[in-house]
Amino acid sequence: GERVYVVGGVVRDLLLGRPVLDLDLVVEGKAIPLARQIAKARNWKTRSHPHFGTAKLLADELTIDFATARSENYAYPGALPTVQWENIEDDLFRRDFTINAMAASLIPESFGDVLDPHGGQQDLEKGLIRVLHPGSFSDDPTRILRALRYEQRFNFRLDEDTERLMQRDMGIMNNITGERLWHELELILGEERPEKVLCRAYNLGVLQHLCPAAQGDAWLRDKLARCRSNDDHTLHTPAVYLCLLIYRLSGEEIQECISRLKIPGWAKQAIQHTVKLRDSVSHMSTPKLRPSQIYRDVERYSPEAIQAVAMASDSAVIQERLELYLDVLRYVKSPLNGEDLQGMGIEQGRRIGQMLRTIHDARLDGEVVNRQEEEQLVRRLLAKDTLFQYKMGLEESNY
Ligand code: CTP
Repeated sequence: GERVYVVGGVVRDLLLGRPVLDLDLVVEGKAIPLARQIAKARNWKTRSHPHFGTAKLLADELTIDFATARSENYAYPGALPTVQWENIEDDLFRRDFTINAMAASLIPESFGDVLDPHGGQQDLEKGLIRVLHPGSFSDDPTRILRALRYEQRFNFRLDEDTERLMQRDMGIMNNITGERLWHELELILGEERPEKVLCRAYNLGVLQHLCPAAQGDAWLRDKLARCRSNDDHTLHTPAVYLCLLIYRLSGEEIQECISRLKIPGWAKQAIQHTVKLRDSVSHMSTPKLRPSQIYRDVERYSPEAIQAVAMASDSAVIQERLELYLDVLRYVKSPLNGEDLQGMGIEQGRRIGQMLRTIHDARLDGEVVNRQEEEQLVRRLLAKDTLFQYKMGLEESNY
């Protein structure tokens, strides 16, 4: 009995023949009780936000978002909107771009009919990103970044008037909170080819409002594209992109960026590690560096920061050594642990830590290759300890 529609990106992606991973539904009525009823029948979980009239249904493989049809008003440019419950047409009118402002009916009598009051299908065919009204970017300046994300993702272009409005309103991006700006940057870094969005944003003067000193040029394009040829799936690629984005910035410029965007801990750490490693890595071109020295020099940095510095460095030797660490050295482990050493007669305390490190270094340098050789090394080290203590004892008694 409810009037329900599939909306937004889902309709866009269905029309483009792209895969749809999650569903966005709008209900002309009350979304939360409907979501709860379905959840109960299917034994799924819901999370609801009564203030916004929305509920998230966690259905086995996918999430389904239920929203009550609403319109939005903005008290001032860039403010969070106040909400009013409305019908589907008003709900579509509050949206960002024509290609995202379509709905498909799930009502039995009109099932599958597409509601397209703003010419979204035509813009999909023409490959255009177009806002619904001239106040769209000033209402919500995050849409400036969203526009470039869709434009580059789909190889579309900005409609002429939309680009003019973007130029007019990009200064209002300064009103957006750090959290929202970071969220948009994170979405850009999560795109398949973020360098396209960042370079486009740079050329339009938009990137300067996000991370002022960053450059979206051929260097960035090349480095980010090369990141994807790396088949190391343990790395969080968006973090590597971020490290490369800030790589050429001074300490002060990075600080400015960090304080403007509300960057979460993991990203801040990746940035800080990148800067520290970048500023200290030159000595890694020294000839004849042992693998254990390479390991000790970089073990304290996050793998993403190391990957970024490897990609950004002009020195082939440094690149090779950092990659040796990422591909091989960081996985080298010794089978012996502290308990094994105690079992071999070493007392609990600092000496155990020192000994484990010596064994690990010997492993990294290929001086020992199995447990047996490691045990022999421990015995040799213990014999040295005993000889040392014996000598010390002699010296003391002579004294
Ligand atoms: N929306 C909007 N303005 C915003 C954010 C979202 O109008 N600032 C609307 C758009 O209609 C959008 C829908 O909310 O289609 C859902 O937003 P989101 O999940 O961010 O985008 P999707 O369109 O689903 O696209 P993506 O593929 O990037 O997830």
